[in-house]
Amino acid sequence: MRPVRQSFPTTALNVVGANDATVAFFATTDCEVYAEVGVYEGSTALGIADLLDGRGEIHLFDFADRVTPAARRLREAGHANVVEHANSRRLMDSYTWSLMHVLAAHTGPVFDYVFIDMEHGTYDLERLESERSAEKRRTSRTN
Ligand SMILES: C[S@@+](CC[C@H](N)C(=O)[O-])C[C@H]1O[C@@H](n2cnc3c(N)ncnc32)[C@H](O)[C@@H]1O
Repeated sequence: MRPVRQSFPTTALNVVGANDATVAFFATTDCEVYAEVGVYEGSTALGIADLLDGRGEIHLFDFADRVTPAARRLREAGHANVVEHANSRRLMDSYTWSLMHVLAAHTGPVFDYVFIDMEHGTYDLERLESERSAEKRRTSRTN
């Protein structure tokens, strides 16, 4: 068995352009402090930044080698209101630590809108619900 050296591929992902549904929906809200967890090349974040047009803040969470170029892309497009939250690719590191640092630095709500676009399998709500139902069935059988 070979040890896993990093937690996510560094190669290109099957993601092309912005998530238009997210940008369109965001446009219907009054939100101004936007966070995107998993930004890849920053296409969706750029769409949001264009909508905000200098208002609010855009918080980007991803591995350092992805979030830094994405933030640069937004800044080069004229958006100065970008905050980078980078984590390493070491196995036990993750965006969760970056989120924890943000929470630790605030006592109230931080973001108006959060687009979570990574690790889709780990927050699969349907699976969570079906596991919860199975647990309820197991518990009722033993009682
Ligand atoms: C589907 S892509 C994001 C696409 C982006 N939201 C967009 O609309 O263009 C998922 C991103 O999650 C990041 N990611 C996955 N696991 C991560 C982790 N543990 N820590 C930080 N970033 C992670 C990947 O590097 C990748 O850029």
